[in-house]
Amino acid sequence: AEIVIVPDAAAAGALVADEILRLVAANPETVLGLATGSTPLPVYEALRPRLADTDVSLVQGFALDEYVGIDPSHPESYRSVIAREVVEPLGLDPRRIRVPDGSLEGIEHAGDDYERAILEAGGIDLQLLGIGTDGHIGFNEPGSSFASLTRVKTLTEQTRDDNARFFDSVEAVPRHCITQGLGTILRARHLVLLAFGEGKAQAVAGAVEGPLTASLPGSAIQLHPHATVVVDEAAASRLA
Ligand code: F6R
Repeated sequence: AEIVIVPDAAAAGALVADEILRLVAANPETVLGLATGSTPLPVYEALRPRLADTDVSLVQGFALDEYVGIDPSHPESYRSVIAREVVEPLGLDPRRIRVPDGSLEGIEHAGDDYERAILEAGGIDLQLLGIGTDGHIGFNEPGSSFASLTRVKTLTEQTRDDNARFFDSVEAVPRHCITQGLGTILRARHLVLLAFGEGKAQAVAGAVEGPLTASLPGSAIQLHPHATVVVDEAAASRLA
């Protein structure tokens, strides 16, 4: 992967927002892979003021993942988060932005449906990624196959603890999720993994320099011909 060390998250946001703008200028139907959580927020914030002269009405988007068994209207469902943090502020067409369906009805088809929708859109041009402290990308927790496609997974206790800040308590964090697989992610044409802060340093080092291992799903990015890792000094601190 290409490593870019930036002074802070805002600089990362500006850098990645500029790359997204270049893509959309060249192809108004650009397909973005959207991440949730804290990490990608500076990208979405940097995009907003830069979009004044850009027509985003045809941009398509696919979220990485969703919790299973959470009401879609819950403020922390990724459907709600993508609407609030991405679709509304950036003025995207909500009909062109998809989030995996984590509702219990039809969960057995949801993964296949999502894969089909990505293929029909022509594949993802740029996939934003954060990384979990346990090394997950998307919600592909340790042990995920590098060939995996969109499917239901169980969140680790580590991830549930990490995400408890978005809920009233750790008990309120869903136990299951539906996530693009590592194989799905690897099909995107450009991967952009962002990480900020000391807490991500170990996972970043493992993803970038560690052995390719299902124990650190982020290491799958080493299989991708065009992966960019944008990190601050703290997140880069364990790189050789
Ligand atoms: C979110 C996702 C996760 C997060 C990761 C880091 O859609 O797929 O992999 O990117 O859990 O979360 P934050 O950015 O909140 O530290």
